[in-house]
Amino acid sequence: GDESDLEARPPVVTVMGHVDHGKTKLLDAIRNTNVVAREAGGITQHIGAYQVGTTHEGADRKITFIDTPGHEAFTAMRARGAQATDIAVLVVAADDGVKPQTIEALNHAQAADVPVVVAVNKIDKEGADPNKVRAQLTEYGLVAEEYGGSTLFVDISAKQGLGIDDLLEAILLTADAELDLRANPTMDAQGLAIEAHLDKGRGPVATVLVQRGTLRVGDSIVCGEAFGRVRALLDDNMQPVTEADPSRPVLVLGLTAVPSAGDNFIVVSDDRMARQIAQQRVARQRIADMAKSSR
Ligand code: GTP
Ligand code: NA
Ligand code: MG
Repeated sequence: GDESDLEARPPVVTVMGHVDHGKTKLLDAIRNTNVVAREAGGITQHIGAYQVGTTHEGADRKITFIDTPGHEAFTAMRARGAQATDIAVLVVAADDGVKPQTIEALNHAQAADVPVVVAVNKIDKEGADPNKVRAQLTEYGLVAEEYGGSTLFVDISAKQGLGIDDLLEAILLTADAELDLRANPTMDAQGLAIEAHLDKGRGPVATVLVQRGTLRVGDSIVCGEAFGRVRALLDDNMQPVTEADPSRPVLVLGLTAVPSAGDNFIVVSDDRMARQIAQQRVARQRIADMAKSSR
């Protein structure tokens, strides 16, 4: 495809921040769900991805959100989240302020050269000091617009649903001002596995983010060392869909193995080709491992 095949695609936004500062609660507020209540111990264990619709300056727009865990054990996941991303939303609890994983998340975003929007959360709480958060983050190069900088800070309460529309607005303003988000929807799909696991009933399942092209049921795909024919695609409400266009996260069923988070996927011409590419990758990896162990 050439330049003329490019079409606007939704921004992919990663929600990052210190543990328990309200990343998942924020996504719940955006989607009107209650994922926090279903999480074991209220701790996010794997990356979730969702797409929501909103209106911006009179037009229907979509935003894709990726939720990352705040715990120290999940540094690699946050790095992957940052790589998959167009914009980072840095969630900072206004009663707790900037914390080690706030800075670590910010470092990932800055290393990936991703614009940051700050969501100052929990403004409903006693002791909340949103301006202190602004002051703290200036030390790390994030200067709020109202202080003469270029970073958008939005005060929110994920619990009370305050400031959510302003945050979506800030994300789209940042996307439109700083990024040129386009992709060719007509080519064979390519993208990234953001989470994968073995499901008892469904077998290997992978949440993939389509980055280019359109992924369809029946496509032959290779994802890392896994391959297979797409048996079904499920959206973020676990509803079957027939295809997924650029920036859409979708659950893929039909892989023969569980890929690793961060693996790229591609659609190839047929199952035989998919198997061949995957087997070559496995063989190459074995050789690399042998070389490493004989050193
Ligand atoms: P990890 O994924 O474990 O890092 O946490 P998280 O950042 O996703 O935080 P989570 O959404 O699980 O929220 C942590 C706790 O803070 C929960 O008990 C939420 O109900 C609470 N919480 C989140 N947002 C707000 C808010 O705006 N106000 C108040 N008062 N509580 C909130
Ligand atoms: Na939590
Ligand atoms: Mg969470």
